[in-house]
Amino acid sequence: MPSSHAREAGPAGGSGPGGPLVVHGRFFQDPAQFDLLVGRCLPGLDDPVVVWVAGCANGQEAYSVAMALAAAGRQGFRILATDVSPEALARTGSGRYGARRPRGLTALDAERYLRFRDGAWEVADALRAHVETLHHDLAAGPMPLPAGTCQVVFCREVLTGMTVDQQVSVLDRLIRWLPVGGWLFLGGAETERGGASVFQTVEVGDRRVYRAVRPALHVPARAQRSAG
Ligand SMILES: C[S@@+](CC[C@H](N)C(=O)[O-])C[C@H]1O[C@@H](n2cnc3c(N)ncnc32)[C@H](O)[C@@H]1O
Repeated sequence: MPSSHAREAGPAGGSGPGGPLVVHGRFFQDPAQFDLLVGRCLPGLDDPVVVWVAGCANGQEAYSVAMALAAAGRQGFRILATDVSPEALARTGSGRYGARRPRGLTALDAERYLRFRDGAWEVADALRAHVETLHHDLAAGPMPLPAGTCQVVFCREVLTGMTVDQQVSVLDRLIRWLPVGGWLFLGGAETERGGASVFQTVEVGDRRVYRAVRPALHVPARAQRSAG
């Protein structure tokens, strides 16, 4: 997703209750990442899988993950969708995506996971029940879940808005917090910035996902960066 997404994010063209609703962004923004999630990550994870979508914007990414897990037959999974923006959290929580079939969804997906209500497509309750929203600043404060309890993190196109030092700090905290074997998805132009010895890069085609391979005791990413 281009970084302009953050500027565009949000319902636009609304004209009050009942007015037209257009929500930017798309479901399954990077389909190859979802293939990686289902094909490489999920087979090694026991139920219930917990996924953190950091910087959830309008919610399509979180609900796409939920759809992928549901389609894979996973049981009891939980998606934590966080953002620093209260407006983004409200949009994610509403799960409403306008009168046209949301971008990135097939007619079958829409039929299976959404419903059309009060003039807009919205996420069906059964899927929404797996997705919880929480205000959280990735660059500050404690992590939103206890260490080791979440196996997969999507943090796409959030780091791009930060300084390099902030990115290193966020990634270092993520490294310490993810369980060994946990997975980290970043945006297409984002990298794990020096965490190479604690992340294994799994590449499939031109896509990559990072796997935590070392326990919490490690050389901080910042030190590795200056050493390298
Ligand atoms: C470009 S959007 C990415 C949306 C989504 N991850 C995706 O790829 O579809 C960036 C989102 O990150 C959020 N964000 C920016 N800085 C953040 C921070 N420090 N902590 C949490 N969320 C942040 C913005 O509010 C915005 O919703």
